[in-house]
Amino acid sequence: MTYPEMRELLEKHGQSHVLRWWDELDDAGKKSLMRQVVHIEWGKTFLRTEERKRGKISPIRGMEIEEVLRRKDEFFEIGKQAIRAGKAAAVLLAGGQGTRLGSDAPKGAYDIGVTHPHYIFEQLVENLRAVTDACGATVPLLIMTSEKNDEETRAFFEEHAFFGYPREEVFFFRQAMAVCVDLEGKILLEDKGKLCRSPNGNGGWYASMARAGLLEVMEKRGVEWYNVFAVDNVLQRICDPVFLGATIQSGLMSGAKVVRKARPDERVGVLCLEDGKPDVIEYYEISDELAALRDERGELVYAYGVILNYLFRADVLRAIARKRLPLHAAKKKIPYLAPDGTFVKPETENGWKFETLILDMIKCAGSCLPFEVIREREFAPIKNRTGTDSVDSARELLKENGVEL
Ligand code: UTP
Repeated sequence: MTYPEMRELLEKHGQSHVLRWWDELDDAGKKSLMRQVVHIEWGKTFLRTEERKRGKISPIRGMEIEEVLRRKDEFFEIGKQAIRAGKAAAVLLAGGQGTRLGSDAPKGAYDIGVTHPHYIFEQLVENLRAVTDACGATVPLLIMTSEKNDEETRAFFEEHAFFGYPREEVFFFRQAMAVCVDLEGKILLEDKGKLCRSPNGNGGWYASMARAGLLEVMEKRGVEWYNVFAVDNVLQRICDPVFLGATIQSGLMSGAKVVRKARPDERVGVLCLEDGKPDVIEYYEISDELAALRDERGELVYAYGVILNYLFRADVLRAIARKRLPLHAAKKKIPYLAPDGTFVKPETENGWKFETLILDMIKCAGSCLPFEVIREREFAPIKNRTGTDSVDSARELLKENGVEL
């Protein structure tokens, strides 16, 4: 792209202010800014999200604990065979910023130990190793980082010798970034030659993995299922053969681990059907009436809380990649360089960050098996330092499950 082409492009989108300090930049700065402009995904990015209109919501049938326990051996065998045949890969989503934890380091590098250092990444690798040991085969572990934490994450794994996992089975890839805009839709600048950008959401994992050339690698290895999971649930089973076996056996295109909601107003997204297709409805989108609805057994009808541990069939993902996932906008406080050249750290929300979400992939997949797990055994998310879903609560749960901290 030439300078006039870039200027024309920015003018067309009402974003010429991005070049305000162009003349002050050195050659490297100019090149870098141009590169950032080239990578902007125009299209829907600059529209503020409209209130999403929901279709007809109805309950989805899932596989509940009682059935899971009854058929555990059968599913384990199917999952184990798939793992031994190299058909499964694990994808760790570690590109988030973990703002609620209040640390600038990668979230997985957080030390949750009590008597000795014990890191979130370490615990996740141990959870995966429990599975690979039980199956007698390793699984490729793909780790999505972001521009902000990539180097640190890689260095952390190196420093800790990959926590004993075979290093040739660990693949890092960076997720793409999306530009941030102010409340009028104008791109914010972080510096004279630098746009404000944030990770483009956990829905970006597949495209980012493909961009890094890893899709080809996985296809060559014969991967048919991807188990995608969040960095912050330290109790989760990764590439769980029972979950994998049940999902394969169901013939459905995807699977989602779910926990039964503790209370109608619990702040967790629930899996349901929207216009007959599986989808996740967020806690703030569901009416009080629906959230509290109970069946003849007295159980909540919309009870399947998602815990961000999904299985996707590889061929379905390929088809999803051709569609555009909806873009979600979140109003945030975004530090920026004001037109007078001063750096501003806003006290109130001043702009929008844009993300695609993995939960939208469930709908795109077309069918999904909600697979119930026991909350106290598999769900210990770390979102905050203290209180609900915190380092403290996760430590308690780990201890209850026999992990020495
Ligand atoms: P969260 O939605 O909890 O966000 O991410 P977060 O960034 O970790 O934490 P807060 O909200 O800033 O405190 C759920 C999962 O999705 C990953 C996170 O790393 C986490 O595993 N994620 C999120 C990404 O990989 N990329 C993103 O752009 C966003």
